[in-house]
Amino acid sequence: MKFIQSLALAFAASAVASEQQLPLQHGDQRPNIVVILTDDQDLHMDSISYMPLLKKHVIDQGTFYKSHYCTTAICCPSRVTLWTGRNAHNTNVTDVFPPYGGYPKFVAQGWNSNWLPVWLQAAGYSTYYTGKLFNSHTVDNWNNPHPSGWTSSDFLLDPHTYQYLNATFQRNDRPPVSHEGEYSTDVLAEKAYGLLEEGVNLRQPFFLTIAPVAPHSDVNASTFVKPGTGKDLDGIIMNAPIPADRHKHLFPEAMVPRTANFNPDKPSSVSWLSRLDKLTDEVVAYNDNFYRRRLQALQAVDEIVEGIVTRLEDYGILDNTYIIYSTDNGYHISQHRLNPGKECSFEEDINIPLIIRGPHVPIGETKVVTAHADLAPTILKIASAKEGWSGLDGSPIPLSEKELEDSKSSRQEHVNVEFWGRGIPEGIYKFSLDDGKIVAYAPNNTYKALRIISSSYNLLYTVWCSNEHELYDLNTDPGQLKNLYPTSKFLPEQNLLGIPLSKVLPRLDALLMVTKSCKGQTCVNPWSVIHPAGNVKTLGDALNPRFDGFYTSISESVRFDKCELGYILESEGPQSVAIFQDDTGGSEL
Ligand SMILES: *[C@@H]1O[C@H](CO)[C@@H](O)[C@H](O)[C@H]1NC(C)=O
Ligand SMILES: *[C@@H]1O[C@H](CO)[C@@H](O)[C@H](O)[C@H]1NC(C)=O
Ligand SMILES: *[C@@H]1O[C@H](CO)[C@@H](O)[C@H](O)[C@H]1NC(C)=O
Ligand SMILES: *[C@@H]1O[C@H](CO)[C@@H](O)[C@H](O)[C@H]1NC(C)=O
Repeated sequence: MKFIQSLALAFAASAVASEQQLPLQHGDQRPNIVVILTDDQDLHMDSISYMPLLKKHVIDQGTFYKSHYCTTAICCPSRVTLWTGRNAHNTNVTDVFPPYGGYPKFVAQGWNSNWLPVWLQAAGYSTYYTGKLFNSHTVDNWNNPHPSGWTSSDFLLDPHTYQYLNATFQRNDRPPVSHEGEYSTDVLAEKAYGLLEEGVNLRQPFFLTIAPVAPHSDVNASTFVKPGTGKDLDGIIMNAPIPADRHKHLFPEAMVPRTANFNPDKPSSVSWLSRLDKLTDEVVAYNDNFYRRRLQALQAVDEIVEGIVTRLEDYGILDNTYIIYSTDNGYHISQHRLNPGKECSFEEDINIPLIIRGPHVPIGETKVVTAHADLAPTILKIASAKEGWSGLDGSPIPLSEKELEDSKSSRQEHVNVEFWGRGIPEGIYKFSLDDGKIVAYAPNNTYKALRIISSSYNLLYTVWCSNEHELYDLNTDPGQLKNLYPTSKFLPEQNLLGIPLSKVLPRLDALLMVTKSCKGQTCVNPWSVIHPAGNVKTLGDALNPRFDGFYTSISESVRFDKCELGYILESEGPQSVAIFQDDTGGSEL
């Protein structure tokens, strides 16, 4: 009932505005917020540099957060983290399909009444969304219940979400409408401009999210199996994305950048990744075409960026609007011998674009570490909202020159990265394994990882559900090809950061023990759990030799008892954290 009333209000307001051309000033001067959220957009394959309008209107006018991370590299868990401000281990939405994920799991966990749009409405914002919200939000369950917190919304629905030429949208309380033969991103653009006008006419500060499906693969809707049947990935057909006709000819020479980890001669990593065959020339060529299609599909998104900015300018509100450009998770194509997809903890999958322009945001780029769980608190802060703050796993992203400067010495240096489930190849070639099998997905892709970045170190530490480990030093090995984790204790010990690995590893493991199940403030400041005295804030602090005895005496390390498809606590090994109590030793709690 509520949104019908506000719709009526919107129509009334819009009539007034067009008759009298009222200036947009109103009592409430809080800024507007526009989020443009793409699907599966990479940072590491240069997709951003193929978007000139994004550069002109957002990058050249704001700050590029180069060390921004998603914490779970797949759409639905990542989007739920984004809109609830919580890591996936605290939302327990860890997959794209039920029983462990998707829109039904989001609802079952109670998040539909406890997420950003609800908090923003309580703060007096009007709220708008168009495009893809979550996976398994379908033509059957769209109204059972309807996503709450939106003044006006127009969602893309499964199984047609990823059909570039047959999108199905669902507006407010109205039934789904099919757009057969129209180009999804162009339909979305018109909807976005309409919602923007509604927001402007309501003469309140507004929040608008525009979530195109590009550059996600095109998914054949008739191969979508009903969620929960366990056969969800067996026959699913995911092809290269489809660009708008006007962009089909672009970038004929573009190829996936040939970085060190591009289809390497030696297999990478551990677990199923170490069993991938080298890609043949035919597959590499297919993947390059897939890559070009992604760049072409992004052009219609680039046009939306300009469409929104010029409209904000015409309405006279551009200077009082934050524009946040990001994506749900990253993407790999041919790196580490992987066919197109995500779900890994490699940089390609987790280090993603985040660009913000708006009041007081300086022009430039920054390496302060930020993650998707930080976006909800950032938006709450912009909105001066009072509700929604409790239990958030992130902290507001520094936006002004001063905040950015201060954060260099005070902001966290870690990102908690986690995944449950399967590795899913997109495109026609699936995964080819060293035993001659071709598989539609890789099982046992469940892991906990810690990404840690400062001016002196740059590490990724991962513990897999198979209890294999990885440790990469990205300063010396940006391609993540040389796993430093010792495979045998009989080999001569290596140094890392100028000290023996046996001193660094227990520190990383102890921190991961905290971050993998952190909650609220302990996610923001996990060292405070191990060192309650508060004198350790970074890995550098923890490496102080006076803690050597404590760290080498910790008996329990991060491990799994079993590989699961979801967050099953009993299979996730020890849960207790070692706490440093005094300089004479340590004790475990
Ligand atoms: C397009 O989507 C509608 C449902 O919204 C469906 O009935 C129709 O068969 C689809 N067409 C194609 C070509 O997939
Ligand atoms: C989608 O998949 C179905 C079933 O495999 C097939 O018959 C149909 O041709 C496919 N459609 C497209 C557009 O590829
Ligand atoms: C996956 O993990 C399960 C349980 O931990 C194990 O039984 C199975 O052998 C593993 N499968 C593969 C392919 O490694
Ligand atoms: C997460 O959800 C699954 C599926 O409903 C459930 O089995 C599991 O116990 C939940 N995990 C936690 C830690 O609550």
